[in-house]
Amino acid sequence: MKIAVCGKGGSGKSTVSALLAKQMAKKKNVLVLDTDESNYGLHTQLGLAAPKDLMEYFGGKQGFKQKQRAPKTSAIGGLGGPGSSGGSGGSGSAPQQQQSRFFEERWKLSDIPSEFVEVSGKIRLMAIGKIHEFGEGCACPMGVLTREFLENLDLSADDIVIVDTEAGVEHFGRGVAKDFDTILVVVDPSYESLKLSRKFEELGDQAGNRVFFVLNKVEEDIMAELLEAVDSSKVAAVIPADRGLFKASLKGEEFEIELEEIVKLEEFLENN
Ligand SMILES: Nc1ncnc2c1ncn2[C@@H]1O[C@H](COP(=O)(O)OP(=O)(O)O)[C@@H](O)[C@H]1O
Ligand SMILES: [Mg+2]
Repeated sequence: MKIAVCGKGGSGKSTVSALLAKQMAKKKNVLVLDTDESNYGLHTQLGLAAPKDLMEYFGGKQGFKQKQRAPKTSAIGGLGGPGSSGGSGGSGSAPQQQQSRFFEERWKLSDIPSEFVEVSGKIRLMAIGKIHEFGEGCACPMGVLTREFLENLDLSADDIVIVDTEAGVEHFGRGVAKDFDTILVVVDPSYESLKLSRKFEELGDQAGNRVFFVLNKVEEDIMAELLEAVDSSKVAAVIPADRGLFKASLKGEEFEIELEEIVKLEEFLENN
């Protein structure tokens, strides 16, 4: 199962990704993929060191861009070039099996070069890439690499990928969304977040994704209002505003908190 965690900046995407990963890792192998180049705290929430950017595997953004231009010039938005030499025939469930321009063979979780993964128990953390220097250029290659990586990954029934996405809807524009089974839209109690949730719903429908809402930072007195503002049949979880969580992220500490609502969210995803 590939799950994208989406939403407005600050709505709690990384928080929900980290908590859900920890919960799911009690049963499954979980790969958390950090695709938000402005995320700097996700690894600490998982109790891990920061992974090396996968972009480095391709010689950094410049090297990646060269590869992007090389065999097929269709570049951004183009599907991974249709097979050159025939892939290794992964019999996975992914409908798109064309050979990638970037990966020589298909990867399982265990094939990911260890240099680019931080591991703790059943949790693996990877990062696509970060902006390191002033004037580095736009984040488009990250979107392309995210998509290529996900398309090239074969999962077993015991594997889950949770993608902590960048804020906003741009990745839908780039077509990254089509690679996910489920989109979790984290909605915090704000007008912007509610507006954006509708946009996600629309785009998810267009892309053929299952879209669910995770209402986050919900205090008792606004719960009813929030539940009314979204399609309640799509609400996968309602997570309270939790001081412990807030303080842990302020201090850059690992999340040791177990929330009942996250347990329910994991069950919901397993059964829906
Ligand atoms: N349920 C919650 N209760 C309290 N604080 C939360 C909760 N969810 C997120 N936060 C806080 O909100 C801020 C933004 O969360 P974060 O997960 O970094 O958002 P995003 O990844 O969407 O930008 C952080 O300070 C985080 O601690
Ligand atoms: Mg984040």
